[in-house]
Amino acid sequence: MSRIAYVNGRYVPHQDAAVHIEDRGYQFADGVYEVVTIVGGRMIDMEGHLDRLWRSLGELHMAAPMKREPLKMVMREVIRQNGITNGIIYLQVSRGVAPRDHPFPKNTPPSLVMTAKRLSMEKAAKTAEQGVAVVTVPDIRWARRDIKSVSLLPNVLAKQAAKEQGAYEAFQVDEEGMVTEGSSTNAWIVTAAGNIVTRSTGNSILAGITRASLMRELKAEGISFEERNFSVDELLNAREVFLTSSTSYVLPVVKVNEKVIGNGHPGLVTQKLRALYEKFMSKEAG
Ligand code: PDD
Repeated sequence: MSRIAYVNGRYVPHQDAAVHIEDRGYQFADGVYEVVTIVGGRMIDMEGHLDRLWRSLGELHMAAPMKREPLKMVMREVIRQNGITNGIIYLQVSRGVAPRDHPFPKNTPPSLVMTAKRLSMEKAAKTAEQGVAVVTVPDIRWARRDIKSVSLLPNVLAKQAAKEQGAYEAFQVDEEGMVTEGSSTNAWIVTAAGNIVTRSTGNSILAGITRASLMRELKAEGISFEERNFSVDELLNAREVFLTSSTSYVLPVVKVNEKVIGNGHPGLVTQKLRALYEKFMSKEAG
């Protein structure tokens, strides 16, 4: 089945899909996005992702490209036309096409683009079985990381630094030596004392939808966790480390910089939480 993209009201072959050179997403990174996981042909946490999309749009005073229900219909149609059972849908809204000038253009409709792609569940399961390595990098991003903006250059540089060191992800570290989050994931630890910890939300990190869903499942199971800052030192001395995102789910980290975490294999708590999250996804997939 050939790939189909959605571009401003049209379903077009993926290789021909394009936006104008004066799209503000292209020229100013003046846009926001969402990545939603598809399992069994169904979107996981669709409402949470749309809530966050509307919040990002609102924070940037950007108009929604369409109402929520029609948007869901287009998302489902993109998934259907691409025949995706397991994978992701990517959705981007920009402030539209206008002659290059920094202030917001007037009477310009926002641009809406969607793509979808397959992901291998087998490959993801294998990665999770082995666990991944992460490195730490300084967090050089702007002060509104809660907005899911397409302005991702620092994230790109962080992920590239990870790749060059043979790691899966880079955890970013603020000026106080505290871990903020990964370049495209949220960071968690299980402390030496056995407490599950992740940074609290605010402007310094993206409020991950996977993070929120995992917390909801933890509460339902009566498993406690703390939302607080943790340092690189605490990270390196953690009993377990893991990360969460729509594309990684709950993924064990077994090495940070050159330090092996625990016995170098995914920890028991992390494995339990991944199983818990997988159970939630199967429920959502119906
Ligand atoms: N990234 N933090 C950052 C900076 C992210 O970009 C993401 C998501 C997350 C995790 O959020 P969620 O659980 O809602 O996926 C945290 C997506 C997957 C991406 O950019 O591809």
